[in-house]
Amino acid sequence: MSAAIESTIDLAKLRSIFGTALAEGVANAALVRFDNIASRLFSALHQLYPENMIWADQWLSQIAECINARPEQLKRLDLSRSADWLKNPKLIGYSAYVDRFAGNLQGVQEKIDYLQSLGIGYLHLLPFLTMREGDSDGGFAVKDYEQVDPRFGSNADLIVLTEQLRSAGISLCSDLVLNHCADDHVWAIAARNGDQLYRDFFYTFSDRSLPDRYEQHLGQVFPVTAPGNFSAIESLGWVWTTFYPYQWDLNWRNPHVFAAMSLNMLRLANMGIEIFRLDSTAYLWKQLGTSCMNLPQTHRIVQALRAVIDIAAPSVALKAEAIVPMEQLPPYFGSPENHQHECKLAYHSSLMAACWAGLVTQRADIPANVIARTPDLPSDSNWLNYVRCHDDIGWGVLSAEAHGQTGIESFDLGYVSDYLAGHIIGSPARGASFQTAADNGVHGSNGMTAALVGIDLALANNDSMLLEQSIDRLLLLYGVMLCLPGIPLIYMGDELALGNDESFRSDPSRANEGRWLQRPMMDWVLTKQRNDRGTVANRVFAGLKKMIDIRCSNLSFIDAGVSLKNVSQLPVLFLQRGNLQFVFNFSAQPQLIRLGQTKSIGSIDLLSGQLIDSIDIPAYGQYWLQMNDTTSA
Ligand code: GLC
Repeated sequence: MSAAIESTIDLAKLRSIFGTALAEGVANAALVRFDNIASRLFSALHQLYPENMIWADQWLSQIAECINARPEQLKRLDLSRSADWLKNPKLIGYSAYVDRFAGNLQGVQEKIDYLQSLGIGYLHLLPFLTMREGDSDGGFAVKDYEQVDPRFGSNADLIVLTEQLRSAGISLCSDLVLNHCADDHVWAIAARNGDQLYRDFFYTFSDRSLPDRYEQHLGQVFPVTAPGNFSAIESLGWVWTTFYPYQWDLNWRNPHVFAAMSLNMLRLANMGIEIFRLDSTAYLWKQLGTSCMNLPQTHRIVQALRAVIDIAAPSVALKAEAIVPMEQLPPYFGSPENHQHECKLAYHSSLMAACWAGLVTQRADIPANVIARTPDLPSDSNWLNYVRCHDDIGWGVLSAEAHGQTGIESFDLGYVSDYLAGHIIGSPARGASFQTAADNGVHGSNGMTAALVGIDLALANNDSMLLEQSIDRLLLLYGVMLCLPGIPLIYMGDELALGNDESFRSDPSRANEGRWLQRPMMDWVLTKQRNDRGTVANRVFAGLKKMIDIRCSNLSFIDAGVSLKNVSQLPVLFLQRGNLQFVFNFSAQPQLIRLGQTKSIGSIDLLSGQLIDSIDIPAYGQYWLQMNDTTSA
């Protein structure tokens, strides 16, 4: 800690407050952790809240109480878990809404076998805490951070579920919605009722003058359905609402917001959450004259949250949900060599979007360029590699690539988005554009993977040729994610080629929000079909499972980084990891690969089990080649 901080913070006093509140059985270990971590905790906090730290006295006692209350099983996990546990290449992720996957938390318990049949070790359940009445942005407007939503069960159900998942080798990831709470959260109600303490939990403005000045530099998340970043709220004037008007941004300049949210996090950790997805991480700090994204103070907040976790629940990891171009992501992993630890995971959204753009344009150089430029991470951190999720495919992250600023030919994101919406002649995709208005350019694309690759259309038209190609396209995208370093994440239903949910259009409570297109109910009949040879569900499930099994049993996935091999064919992505080579054809035409690329001749394709004599790769095909001793030389 710098001398300036030491002169304002009485660390010995804070240690004593903390130590006094600790129970006997936990005190020694907790104080050792405090001694190791306090300097990074308080330097981050001091930078955020330099005026005073009086608020921290009570807060530290509350943290101690959380440590006292931490269940034995979790304390054991805290002691035994290695720092790099998320680097395990056998960790396969799955993401689902509780209700759409299994009704409620008890229902999820009953589906653990299913998750195991896919080899899942990491489960992200979308928001399940008590959410706003009415519209809640799929639960991302949280009314109570301490209670499971009664529709999904109780806190006791959550504890049982996390225990059962843990015994099945599955870690539960939960959203921690930090940027905003619901307008019916008690803090918001108190603010509306004139309580100054809680008014200070939010950004409120009596007139438009400051909001207008902020707006000059801000982007828009929902430019069509929720334009602007401020909402007029009776009795408060204008409230900062980056997302929907009912999601009120929290004022992290107020240390009481930090204290309250960090305690919410620890209480959830004590219920068995092992990974927190820090929702909308990039937006936490606001500064006039900036885009209010990725600001240094936002990183200080994440560093302070990480230090709190490291003191009170060290087996738990943080994941950044920062949907920003990949160059902006490394700070979210922190700079451990400078004792600035932050998240251990972040979504690789540039890679996800690049794969879709590559598929539409039949250009593998788009994902190859992103793979080549992917920043290195600290040794205990990892990417989350995904094809689809509950949100739209946001095209903003690919802006530099599309403008030809990263060493590849430019491409037209408007075309990609129109193609995925099925608006280009010959496109088999059945997605939809999201938040795209004539005057604000291309924004995002919605749709389940199966619909975007053409499976929905092929099934509707009974078109077997299209079906073949579309299944290959789905497997190709997942193949890329499953062969790369990072945790591959399967979005619920993709493993069975579950299609779009068009029903949202006629449901008044969802019709206004296009992302419901990719939030179908799980089809448990389809899960049974996964065992019937030849069905679409069977082919997709078996295809994914095969790749997962290879990933889990091959040493190259443990040790080797990824390198790109040069190929002259634009649609071919050619990667190497250890003694494995991966070849993907992003086009509708077969590709014959020549060059010193022939090294792979005589290799076994682990996917088909066949010996490959020449790399003549079919449309949308992929090979996972194990080089024999002579070829790998
Ligand atoms: C995240 C979620 C998204 C939600 C937003 C606001 O981006 O993934 O679904 O709308 O945060 O909470």
